[in-house]
Amino acid sequence: MSVQGYLSELFSLDGRVAVVTGGSSGIGRAIAGALARAGASVVVLARREAELVATVDELTGQGAKAAWVGADLGSRAGVRTAADAAAEIFGEPDIVVNSAGINLRPPMGDIDDDVWDATMAVNLAAPYLLGQRFGPGMAERGYGRLIHVSSQQAHRAFVQSGVYGVSKGGLESLARSQAEAWSPHGVTANTLVPGFVMTPLNARLSSDPERVAALAARTMVGRNGVAEDFAAAAVFLASAGSAYVTGQSIFVDGGLSVH
Ligand SMILES: NC(=O)c1ccc[n+]([C@@H]2O[C@H](COP(=O)([O-])OP(=O)(O)OC[C@H]3O[C@@H](n4cnc5c(N)ncnc54)[C@H](OP(=O)(O)O)[C@@H]3O)[C@@H](O)[C@H]2O)c1
Repeated sequence: MSVQGYLSELFSLDGRVAVVTGGSSGIGRAIAGALARAGASVVVLARREAELVATVDELTGQGAKAAWVGADLGSRAGVRTAADAAAEIFGEPDIVVNSAGINLRPPMGDIDDDVWDATMAVNLAAPYLLGQRFGPGMAERGYGRLIHVSSQQAHRAFVQSGVYGVSKGGLESLARSQAEAWSPHGVTANTLVPGFVMTPLNARLSSDPERVAALAARTMVGRNGVAEDFAAAAVFLASAGSAYVTGQSIFVDGGLSVH
């Protein structure tokens, strides 16, 4: 067998359909691109149309199969409508990546019902609802990959973790619940755990060179993350090759969590 044939058997996503929430920016955009370049037909979901169009144009321009659905995942109705719309484009997905997330960062004492509800809706309820919508069908078809993007704040407090850290802790537990339910039927559920990644989400911190350098020094690799650092890990978790990896939290953080 050729090297190419061997790698394809392990990792090719040819013929697979993927849905990537938050696929128009940062980590989600890099993951959507990686899955599409590995052969999947990818639907990206987010609110802002210009970013969605730019992402899809870039991918289709490279010969990949991609489409977008405008969606606000902050409400249950929004998630359900978006899920149905996404599945209409290339069919029911084999791979669902939950990268959409918000971090509002008020001090703990200032968190009100609105901040709690908004954060939990996008960061935790949407991944749960998408799992309920697509998990059983994946199990019936015998193949599925649920991939969540969590945070080091699921494991430790960091810069006003507040409700954000709570939502990410819940997300890693959700992956384990999904893994327990559906792994016997070929559906794995895992979490990618970033450290500090230079994306629009943390534009405020990223624009402070001293903080950026201090955070880089806390990693083992010696630099902060970039969105492309998640490409290979996402392809691995989406592929046939990761069939025996499930319920796991996989740190893609340059060693930050163990330093
Ligand atoms: N960057 C880091 O250092 C870091 C560290 C740990 C974990 N993470 C996690 O990694 C994931 C991706 O973050 P990122 O850094 O790549 O952030 P980002 O560049 O800000 O991307 C966030 C994405 O989520 C979408 N989104 C936000 N709210 C939404 C809503 N209500 N409905 C639909 N889509 C929504 C955004 O699109 P629209 O705004 O257009 O809707 C955007 O596509 C998040 O879950 C985040 O918590 C990031």
